Order: sequence, then C-alpha cells, then structure tokens
Amino acid sequence: MRNFNTILITGGAGFIGSNMIRYLLSEESGFKGVVINVDLLTYAGNLESLIDVEKSFGGGSNPRYKFVKADIRDRSAIENIFKNYNVDCVIHFAAESHVDRSILGPEAFITTNVLGTYTLLDVARKYWQEIYGTLSDAPVLFHHISTDEVYGSLGDTGYFTENTPYDPRSPYSASKAGSDHLVMAYHHTYGLPVTLTNCSNNYGPYQFPEKFIPLMILNMIEDKPLPVYGDGKNIRDWLYVEDHNVAVWQVIRYGKVGEKYNIGGENEWENIRLLEYLIQIVSEETGKPQEKLKELITFVKDRPGHDRRYAIDCTKIKHELGWKQSVSFEEGLRKTVKWYLDNRKWVDHIRSGEYLKWIEKNYGERGGRVC
Ligand code: NAD
Ligand code: TYD
Repeated sequence: MRNFNTILITGGAGFIGSNMIRYLLSEESGFKGVVINVDLLTYAGNLESLIDVEKSFGGGSNPRYKFVKADIRDRSAIENIFKNYNVDCVIHFAAESHVDRSILGPEAFITTNVLGTYTLLDVARKYWQEIYGTLSDAPVLFHHISTDEVYGSLGDTGYFTENTPYDPRSPYSASKAGSDHLVMAYHHTYGLPVTLTNCSNNYGPYQFPEKFIPLMILNMIEDKPLPVYGDGKNIRDWLYVEDHNVAVWQVIRYGKVGEKYNIGGENEWENIRLLEYLIQIVSEETGKPQEKLKELITFVKDRPGHDRRYAIDCTKIKHELGWKQSVSFEEGLRKTVKWYLDNRKWVDHIRSGEYLKWIEKNYGERGGRVC
C-alpha cells in the first residue's frame, strides 16, 4: 500500500474534488496526512461546498486542510505550492468540465485542461527529481482524473475498456484526451510515477446545476421546462460520486504505476428514461404531482456532435483492486434530490455569483488565505 503525507488536490472546490476532500479527511479513508486544495474558483468552484471541512480540519495548531487560490496554468504559483507544502501526491481534478460550454468556447478547455495539466506534470517532475534524483523509485504519485468521453461514442452494443482507442469528439473530450496522453508521456519519458482513471458520468451533492441531474431537479422544483436534447435516447452510465472517489483512492494506494483504470456505474440509462425516474423521485419527495412534472418535459435542438452512448467495462478495477459500486441508483438519486431540496442557499449562491461576495467577505480580496 502507498502512503502519502501531503496530497495536493486540484479543483477541490468543484463537484467531485470537494466530495473527495471530505472523503479523504474522513476516518473511512484511513488517510492521516494533509490536504492542500488548489483551485482557481471559476464559476464552478465554490468554497461553500467545504465549510464543514474548513471548520473541522482547517484550524488548530496542526491543520489538515488548506485552501490555496491558484491557477494550474500559473507555473510559479504551482512551484511555490510544491515547495511550501512538500507535496508528495497530486490528485488532479481541476478542469473545465462541461461539454456544452466547450462547444460555445473551447479556449479555456485547451488552456486549463491541456496546458494546466502540462504545467502540473512539469512542476511535479522537476520538484520530485530534485528531491529524489531518480523518479521511477520515488515515493510519490501523480494521479490524473479523466473521463470515459475520451473513447468517443458507442453504438447499441459494446463497452469501453482500458484498451479502447481514444476517439474524442467534443472540444471537452479532446482536451481531456490531450491531458491523458501527456500524463502517460511523462511516465514513459521521464519515469514520473502516474496513475490514471477514466470515469463515467458522476452524480451526487455539490454538482454545478448545469449538468443533467441537478439541472432537472432544480427545474422541477421551480416549475421550469426540462430541456431534453434531441430524441432523449442518448445513453449515459451513471455513478454516485462517493463510489467514484473510493475507486480513485483504491487506485492511488494499490493501483499499478503507469496504468489506467476504467471506473463505471454499470448503470446505463437513456436520458428520457432517467428523467422519468427522477420525476417519480422528485414527486415523492416534494408532493408535486408526477403528471404536472411530466408536462414540463421539452424536447429541444440536439447538442452538436452529441455522443450517442457511453458504457464502461470496469472489470479491471474490480478484479485487480476489489472495488465495486456500493450505492444503488435509487438510493443515490434520492440522496441527491434531498440534498438539492435541503441546500437551496448553496444553489442560489452558486447560480447568482453571490458566493464570490461571500468569499471576499470571509477570505479577503485574494480569495485564498495562503501563498
Ligand atoms: P467541476 O467543473 O465541478 O469542478 C472543476 C473545478 O476545477 C472547479 O472548482 C474550478 O474552479 C476548478 N478549475 C477550473 N479551472 C482551473 C484552473 N485553471 N486552475 C485551478 N482550478 C481550476 O468538475 P467536476 O465535475 O468536479 O470534474 C472534476 C474532474 O473529473 C474533471 O477533470 C473532469 O474532467 C473529471 N470527470 C468528471 C465527470 C463528471 O461526471 N462530472 C466524469 C468523469 C470525469
Ligand atoms: P451532461 O450532464 O452535460 O454530461 P455529459 O454531456 O458529459 O454526458 O449531459 C448528460 C446527458 O444529458 C447528455 O446526453 C446530454 C443530455 N442533456 C440534456 O438532454 N439536456 C440538458 O439540459 C443537459 C445539460 C444535458
């Protein structure tokens, strides 16, 4: 088993990253060290997702959690963070993550996802080389979080395996594919110890409400139209965010260096069927009649280049590392619906930009408190 003292999480104020920080600092993970959360706080980053973590782990004489506001494209900021905290593991979540936004404006996807990943890899390589000399035996790890979207689109049958050739089709997936290739290139060329995971669609608390599941839940609560792209028959494989993070932690501790692992929910749903299921759950939780909610379904123009089906074969991580999903779709969706019903303040802040004022009030002009 690998052990680390200081884990640098990039994108820790986002959806999956904030859930990962909460998990890592919980007893359940067994991690005893310090987490440094580096995030630029773009529209998708929200420190309000971590208030409990900051309270429990951010203070005292030996804090186990620090937030640093920084851009992963800013080489000198990243160098300072490695030096100041003596980072020995990186879990790289930070990215521009929404396909629709990548169609409207691809540039940020290229600079953050490709150049930002390059910057992190190169700083890690140089910093760890200075300390350990030979990288291949160094007790360090760069773990890269990626998506199944790099594999392209499936027809009615078949699954993505770790050997499926890359065939990205949106600016988002192309930028993630580029970052995956750089991670592997740094391993093969410089001996940087890396692991990489490609995951299917995540859902759960703290997801920015531009993505399908939180968007639909909130629109139902607010009696707004439920926009379904195209014929609604595109298929996604859904995984509860906590199951994803447990899998990532398994790979970081026990996975083979230089290898990639697919993570999936084995839980394929046509978008329109998923929406009907969500309507049933929201109706049960709110008392809104199902028929009224169904009237809100609105078929809209399809997303350009909309991938038809994603489906993950996660035999490798199951067999090699003994991971499996633990949250059923019913349980996960219900928890998610309840979370959005109970956390309207979080939703209102993240949607209105209000949380930026909150950050300034709580953390001062710089946003961050360190560096
Ligand atoms: P998110 O959009 O919720 O969060 C991304 C975070 O990165 C935000 O906090 C944002 O402020 C930060 N960030 C963006 N640009 C930055 C920069 N230049 N410097 C520093 N921080 C920056 O995304 P998410 O859904 O949590 O996804 C996290 C990772 O997981 C991404 O790499 C994504 O590609 C991958 N992934 C997501 C899913 C999914 O379903 N959400 C599935 C598979 C893989
Ligand atoms: P999304 O949550 O954007 O994730 P991704 O595109 O990365 O899979 O979308 C999930 C599916 O839902 C995808 O097939 C597009 C579709 N979709 C809609 O039909 N309507 C919407 O408003 C959104 C945001 C997505």
